[in-house]
Amino acid sequence: MKVFNDLADFSVDEIGELLRLANYLESHPQPTALSGKVLALLFLSPSLRTLASFQAAMTRLGGGSIVISPDMSIHGLETRPGIVMDGVAAEHIREAVPVIASYADAIGIRAFGLRKNLADDLADKDFHAMTALTDTPYINMESACNHPCQSLADWKTLDEVHEGVADKKFVLSWSYHPKSLPLAVPAATLHMAAMRGMKVTVLRPDGFALPAPLMEKAQAAAKLSGGSVTETNNREDALQDASILYVKSWAATDDYGNASEDMNLRRELHDWRIDEDWFSNARSDCRLMHCLPVRRDVEICENVLDGPRSIVIPQARNRMLAQMAVLHEMLGKR
Ligand code: CP
Repeated sequence: MKVFNDLADFSVDEIGELLRLANYLESHPQPTALSGKVLALLFLSPSLRTLASFQAAMTRLGGGSIVISPDMSIHGLETRPGIVMDGVAAEHIREAVPVIASYADAIGIRAFGLRKNLADDLADKDFHAMTALTDTPYINMESACNHPCQSLADWKTLDEVHEGVADKKFVLSWSYHPKSLPLAVPAATLHMAAMRGMKVTVLRPDGFALPAPLMEKAQAAAKLSGGSVTETNNREDALQDASILYVKSWAATDDYGNASEDMNLRRELHDWRIDEDWFSNARSDCRLMHCLPVRRDVEICENVLDGPRSIVIPQARNRMLAQMAVLHEMLGKR
């Protein structure tokens, strides 16, 4: 494997193999499998789980990692193309990426979308401008419109929670958040659940419909897997008989990039905070997922987050295990 960028690049069988490897590595530690290998981690956007889980994964497999982020005492990093660098930034990403990559056997890059131009973000234009700067194998650690590491871990979590969960109802719900958040997790989650063959419903308020190309990609995956993808603003309809409620906030899409319009829309949507009432017509064993970080009592009420439905902690732990499988495939001896 040279690239881990999108679950859509893999077949369902290949994902199954990766997850079998993740389970094997959990029960059969291989502390020297990646001995002498180096993973470079470039974080242009913040993280807790992705940073910690990649470092833990490399350590558990016997390799090492280097972390570079603008918060460290590095030269100011410029990312804009064609810029005259007479400001604060002393180093351009055009040199930084190939230099960091040249020290490593693989590079992981995190760079959230700018949330200004929908077409650019849907194409992951800025992310791919960076990956094009090196031939080193790379991992997408979250770009404007993808988060494959999260989705691989979520697939594993779904395998663990309900027997035969593949054909169950999966609700991806928008939730209130004071900030306009990226499309990466909703885009990747929608596609992952469709690829698994689940009955997927996107629940979101007006103004927050997921862009057509994301829905079409998920619908194509559902057609292959025997699943389905629908969208609604009706909470009761969406949650009827649901097995999984996956909560995530995202930016307004009606006028993507218009920050003041986004704020006007979300100001009226504080009641999109998940409380136990939301589960009244869901299956009794319906589970709550969230990729984290989560704002307590803003996105999800504390009693739900801390209650028996919530599987957010094992979900986060699976990040490390899923990434161990990816790293083993990318850097291990064949
Ligand atoms: N879910 C996730 O990617 O978490 P971090 O932003 O903390 O890495």
